[in-house]
Amino acid sequence: MKYLAILGRQPEISIAELEALYVDVLRQAPGLASFVADSVDIDKLGGSLKIAKALDRKPLEYLQSLPEGKITIGVSDYSEKASRKTTLDEALKLKKILVRHGRSVRVVESKDAVLSTATSLHNGLSGKNDRKVELIKVGNSWYKVIGIQDIDAYARRDQARPARDAKVGMLPPKLAQILINLCGPLKVGATILDPFCGTGVLLQEALLMRYRAYGTDISERMVEYSEKNLKWLMKSKSIHSRAASLAPVATGLARSSSPCQAPDSLESNTFWISRGDATSFQWVQPIDAVACEGYLGKPFSQIPSDMELKKQKQECGAIILGFLKNLASQIKEGIPVVIAAPAWLRQDGAYERLEILDEIDKLGYNVNNKSRKGLFYHREKQVVARDILILRKK
Ligand SMILES: C[S@@+](CC[C@H](N)C(=O)[O-])C[C@H]1O[C@@H](n2cnc3c(N)ncnc32)[C@H](O)[C@@H]1O
Repeated sequence: MKYLAILGRQPEISIAELEALYVDVLRQAPGLASFVADSVDIDKLGGSLKIAKALDRKPLEYLQSLPEGKITIGVSDYSEKASRKTTLDEALKLKKILVRHGRSVRVVESKDAVLSTATSLHNGLSGKNDRKVELIKVGNSWYKVIGIQDIDAYARRDQARPARDAKVGMLPPKLAQILINLCGPLKVGATILDPFCGTGVLLQEALLMRYRAYGTDISERMVEYSEKNLKWLMKSKSIHSRAASLAPVATGLARSSSPCQAPDSLESNTFWISRGDATSFQWVQPIDAVACEGYLGKPFSQIPSDMELKKQKQECGAIILGFLKNLASQIKEGIPVVIAAPAWLRQDGAYERLEILDEIDKLGYNVNNKSRKGLFYHREKQVVARDILILRKK
């Protein structure tokens, strides 16, 4: 089936995520891409704000077919010349005809030609209620929204975690999902290793996506934080939007002799956390995918001096290369490895990268073309960006 994705603020990364999971991904307009999939779960797509499906009839016909009772409609127009006014006129025109046919209609207004994610979400236009719909217009084509990113759920699980550490960095849950998805399609219950697990954001998202999570970190404190956060996650299912799907995945993984500490919760064998230096640790098998935010070095708030930058590049580069060298002999051919590496803002506005791709190649990994060009995740003027490296063991 063909879908339309409304891409997030970093569209290149959103597209890379779609390409890793689905087929026939095509840019439709700025901020929009179509793709083909059997089904889509927006709650697992960190890089897409909304997902829509093409309408199989004219918008008015579709709206007239909605079940009886008051209907709420929102229109977002992504066509080139659309404005707030033209979009609202379009929605009011539909309303007028529907009212004439005896329907009670509310139109959700927007400040722009398109409804923001928050407006759509908070007006219940996510496709779950048959009488509350958002229509998307692109040129002459019309779509119906079938899923909206639950920004409130991301904020809740980001902010409510008991163990947080601003110095270690705050991997946004959305980006954690993207890093996992960039590994490509994985089976339910696949084991994802994060060898720099920190406070456990990636492990948390892996569990919510129904994978097994295996985390290691050099710092004992971080191991404790991750453990605390994951135990909290297991106990507080009700705060997560997909509480129902957070059921334990199949059990019985032969990891009992591992050096990991298995927490004594019900879902104990869905996650493991252990202390370990990623440059020398021997992980326990199986490992189906590796996704992590590597060591990012100092958290600069200003552009570093050339000398400082050189030092940081050496330190961070050595850890990532040391880790990849250690990992290479421990994973099978074809296993995906996705790493968010640091890149530093320069005076000219570009990002200075680690420049380790050729060495990574020599260590036995294929480097995805998008990573060769650079796939950066950053907020405006953020000094340390995340340079996403998509690799696969040769
Ligand atoms: C940027 S943080 C990752 C934060 C993490 N994504 C989170 O959700 O909190 C990098 C982590 O790498 C760990 N680290 C640094 N050097 C390491 C090494 N050689 N082996 C394993 N972990 C290391 C640090 O302790 C830190 O927790």
